[in-house]
Amino acid sequence: MGMLDGVLTIDELTLQDRRVFIRVDFNCPLGEDGSVSDDTRIREALPTIKKVIEKGGRVILASHLGRPKPGKDNSKLSLEPVGARLSELLDGIEVHLPDDCIGEAARRVVRDLRAGQICLLENLRFHAEEEKDDDGFARKLAELADVYLDDAFGASHRAHASVHALPRLIAERGAGYLLTKEIKALSKLLEAPEKPYVAILGGSKVSDKIEVIEALLERVDVLLVGGAMANTFLAARGVDVAASKVESDKLPLARTILDKARSGRGGRTVELVLPVDVVVARSLDAAEGTVVDVAAIPAGTMALDIGPKTVALFCKHFANAKTILWNGPLGLFEKAPFSQGTFGVAAAIADSKAFSVIGGGDSAAAVVAAGGDIASRISHISTGGGASLELLEGKKLPGVEALRGASLPT
Ligand code: 3PG
Repeated sequence: MGMLDGVLTIDELTLQDRRVFIRVDFNCPLGEDGSVSDDTRIREALPTIKKVIEKGGRVILASHLGRPKPGKDNSKLSLEPVGARLSELLDGIEVHLPDDCIGEAARRVVRDLRAGQICLLENLRFHAEEEKDDDGFARKLAELADVYLDDAFGASHRAHASVHALPRLIAERGAGYLLTKEIKALSKLLEAPEKPYVAILGGSKVSDKIEVIEALLERVDVLLVGGAMANTFLAARGVDVAASKVESDKLPLARTILDKARSGRGGRTVELVLPVDVVVARSLDAAEGTVVDVAAIPAGTMALDIGPKTVALFCKHFANAKTILWNGPLGLFEKAPFSQGTFGVAAAIADSKAFSVIGGGDSAAAVVAAGGDIASRISHISTGGGASLELLEGKKLPGVEALRGASLPT
């Protein structure tokens, strides 16, 4: 069964004069001045928002922002700057922001909302009930809506009230354009990836990626590993990685993964490729790095990027690939001396003719930081870090499951 089977899309729902509750993922990074520093998630939700406006619906947007702490001053996690950016992106359209997502303030704004106007509810996580998937809280949100649309792919792996309990309370519900686009692109990698399928994994920890590695070993032809995670694999192969970050307790696991790739299943093996050279330095703040072969990492230094030979080795695999998945930066790309590996790989993926997918989070940020038109030449850049990983692990996403089946009585 396809992941979206039985789920209505925005185009199949009646929106005119309806109060259309759109769960978006506006969990955007904020800069030091409090304004939105990366508006990708807002821009990606615009097609759905504009469609509802065009169809004469009343738009009610809801999102979480950050992880507010109970009993602390969480005012910096207000969605106000997000509302300001949204208004700019919609040519100055007024975005009404009641100071709470439930209760009289929200009800009043929604009641007074006319077709084509927007209400952005305040941060859902200001209520602890949101993360508890609380039915009572979901029912209060349901009072504000006639139609429910989920366009929050980035939050679809969370069984939280606005994503999971709420949609089941609203009979007219479905998927927005972003959610649909994400699921279609990512599920291609699960269901029918064109071969050769090359995956490239980076990031800091093997432990964060165990499940996705297991799932990828079943599907990919080549698995390229970079980033700090590669140190643990190199150490498991007996390489002296000096002061590099290694997850010592994960060495046995890394050995098992290396063995699994080599021995394969049903006669199918996976070529697991580790860096052959790295850029090392004595500190994360070093002004420059030195390229060395992995067999000659000097004592007291740590690997902070993949080296040029490794970039070339990885890129050779992209040349023939029909499908490429990349998740996790290959070095400390935020710092110039350690960015070239990540940026070189980003450029090569953009140049390849393969169907290319970048997982959300840091890898998506890295592709944008790589500059030029690189990001625009990637087939799909996900807006969901955790959600894209869970989907690729073959897990069901609670937010998508809740869009299917009969609704519950309110
Ligand atoms: C994300 O940024 O990955 C999503 O918005 C989910 O946020 P969370 O990890 O705080 O649930």
